[in-house]
Amino acid sequence: MKYYKWFDYSKMFEMKRKFKILLTRRLHEFALAKLRERYEITIHHGKIPMPKKRILEEIKNKDGLVCFPYDIIDKEVLDSANKLKSISTYSVGFDHIDVNYAKKKKITIGYTPDVLTNATAELTIGLIMDLLRRITEGDHIIRKGMWIEIFGPFDYVGTEISGKTLGILGMGRIGKTVAKKASCLGMNILYHSRKPITNVGNAKYVSINDLFKKSDIISIHVPYSKITHHMINSKLLTKMKKTGFLINTSRGKVVNQKDLLEALQSKKIQGAALDVFEDEPISKSNDLVKLKNVVLVPHIGSSTSETRHTMAEITIKNLILGLSNKKLVYSV
Ligand code: DGY
Repeated sequence: MKYYKWFDYSKMFEMKRKFKILLTRRLHEFALAKLRERYEITIHHGKIPMPKKRILEEIKNKDGLVCFPYDIIDKEVLDSANKLKSISTYSVGFDHIDVNYAKKKKITIGYTPDVLTNATAELTIGLIMDLLRRITEGDHIIRKGMWIEIFGPFDYVGTEISGKTLGILGMGRIGKTVAKKASCLGMNILYHSRKPITNVGNAKYVSINDLFKKSDIISIHVPYSKITHHMINSKLLTKMKKTGFLINTSRGKVVNQKDLLEALQSKKIQGAALDVFEDEPISKSNDLVKLKNVVLVPHIGSSTSETRHTMAEITIKNLILGLSNKKLVYSV
């Protein structure tokens, strides 16, 4: 009799049942194949982002969720997910997930840091070069048939990168990698983060006010949170040099976009390069799009074939490990 008491038949059923997974968007085929081997998977194919109403409906009977940095996984979604054990986001950012509430519900959360550090740092350097040397602007001039006169001494002059001071806001993985690459280009590095850190080469810690006052280029590498919401606003922007440039490859809402637009239009700063926006995709009619002193790219920080492939690998590993009650590769 004792045997019947401790043997939980519902658990045996659980063991046999295939876990059900929701993916809010298609992933690489190799990753989907691995998931299909193990689980019953549902992939959202319609409108991106997957409408909240659809997520609320689909998540009800799912054990696992693969989501992306624009999917809002809030309390409402988590409450409707009765069986959810594991969330895996295809991103380094996890500001779109109510982490505390998910943890309360004992749901594991996987994410993809490290693997996209280099790609994002490379893009940052690319944007600095593009903006200061007016590369995209030059490309537009040629395509519009506006390159009329050959090689004038004052034509399309940009700003030399070597010898300039780069101010890094947020000295995490990406900030540090940008600092290293920028040093190789002959730039001086200042940084501001919650506290000074070690192993940052010649980079010098300064207050946030000094960072904005003394840098020729500011590059933002802080995660998005209630604390960093609109952290870059007119108050800080007016501290910048008139010849200063702002680069943002972190999260759009860290910058008050209205204040930035005003600073650019009124030439309080010289230019900006943005990979991220308050609302994505940014509309063609947005006033930022009309400015020549701005380079805009569509949230491509991690977008290299190598990195996106590795992100898919980590995303499914995190999910599989979470569903097997094992330690994730990267856990929030
Ligand atoms: C992320 O992973 O959070 C990035 O925004 C993608 O580039």
